[in-house]
Amino acid sequence: MRSLHVTGGKPLFGALRVQGAKNSALPILAAAVLAEGVSVIRNCPRLTDTEAAVRILREVGCRVWEDGDALYVDSSGPVRPEIPSRLMREMRSSVIFLGPILARCGEARLSAPGGCEIGARPIDLHLRALRSLGAEIEERGGNLNCRAKRLRACRIDLPFPSVGATENTMLAACLGEGETVITGAAREPEIQDLQAFLNAAGGSVTGAGSSVIRVQGRERLHGAVHRVIPDRIAAATWLAACAAAGGDLRLYDTEWRHYRPVLHKLREMGCDLQTGENLVRIRSTGKLKAASPIVTRPYPGFPTDAQPPLMAAALTAEGTTAFQETIFESRFRHVPELRRMGADIRTEGRTALVWGVEKLYGAEVTAADLRGGAALVIAALAAEGESRIYGLQHLDRGYTAMEESLAELGAEIERKEDGDG
Ligand code: EPU
Repeated sequence: MRSLHVTGGKPLFGALRVQGAKNSALPILAAAVLAEGVSVIRNCPRLTDTEAAVRILREVGCRVWEDGDALYVDSSGPVRPEIPSRLMREMRSSVIFLGPILARCGEARLSAPGGCEIGARPIDLHLRALRSLGAEIEERGGNLNCRAKRLRACRIDLPFPSVGATENTMLAACLGEGETVITGAAREPEIQDLQAFLNAAGGSVTGAGSSVIRVQGRERLHGAVHRVIPDRIAAATWLAACAAAGGDLRLYDTEWRHYRPVLHKLREMGCDLQTGENLVRIRSTGKLKAASPIVTRPYPGFPTDAQPPLMAAALTAEGTTAFQETIFESRFRHVPELRRMGADIRTEGRTALVWGVEKLYGAEVTAADLRGGAALVIAALAAEGESRIYGLQHLDRGYTAMEESLAELGAEIERKEDGDG
């Protein structure tokens, strides 16, 4: 079995380029299905999740190739309206292909993604929006059978600003007839990035970043060239790692305005943070103090994806830090593993209270999900002695060669197969 071997106690020094955003790249790869022609998606991160999206693109008939940091997607040929369940299972967010395939082909057949490590993850809001646009959707035995000759514009009021449902609706409405208005839309930077790609492809989308998005339907879209925004959660992860382990780290190719609440909490914890154009510098002694309560919220609130990394940084902070998770039902699965390293955490429902301890100790732990896995790595960097972290398939979904970046900064970290010694 593969694991990361981490010997903690080494501060992090140096500079790191932040990868392109996973959660932008995935909907933009799905959008490439709509854009008849060749799309060039630059700064696309190399992750198992983006590889899964590429397998879906090829399955539905697109040609995909890479050149440097760019992925080329040619969707000028006919698109097959079906995604086999083995591909749907590889990545929960593959449901983002539903809107584009339905809009492009007039039909779509795929299996519902089902729950995952962080909770039930229903797609009722996606389906409700697509039905409002005129799609007939049959749900049978976990399969979705969808039809719509041409989607009709309408007004869609989302009762919760779901990121995926906002994106699926925008994607489908791009080829609809008339103007669709989405109210209660998610406001994440990734939604703005999707809008930028769709407009570059000849679409007419306005309002992303606010809670009202307008999509004027077009007959067709064409290929587009686009650069994916930097990953705000990867940036938050590196900052939390430096906060916990101590050191002096400069991040470049990063947009700090996309994660202000994370910077705010790290400052409260005693880190010295400086921001510049596409740049953030953090200096930390590794001796932190507890922050005021961290409550996850839709953007522009504190991001749920940064909750586990910040919790890892809070473990040795002086005082008590409260975490409240309001977005996902089951996002504390890193807690029992962190306890194995000596953390003092009590959970009740969606609240976790972290009592800062003097020291963490290396242990064998297993990641149960992507961001929880990042939390384990951060705790291991700050711990005394060696840790082994299993469940690397989760980390590889969202971070490009995490151990290489950390090793460059001075961490003692290595990926090994059991038996490698
Ligand atoms: N929800 C529903 N019904 C729906 C859709 C969502 O009840 O139809 C609920 C979910 O169950 C969840 C909440 O609404 O409790 C938020 O879900 P949302 O749709 O906003 O999230 P998502 O689109 O499934 C994206 C990111 C997540 C990130 C969330 C929140 C991608 C590919 N994924 O998920 O990223 O946590 O938004 O910001 O964009 C990660 O990168 O580790 C990750 C999980």
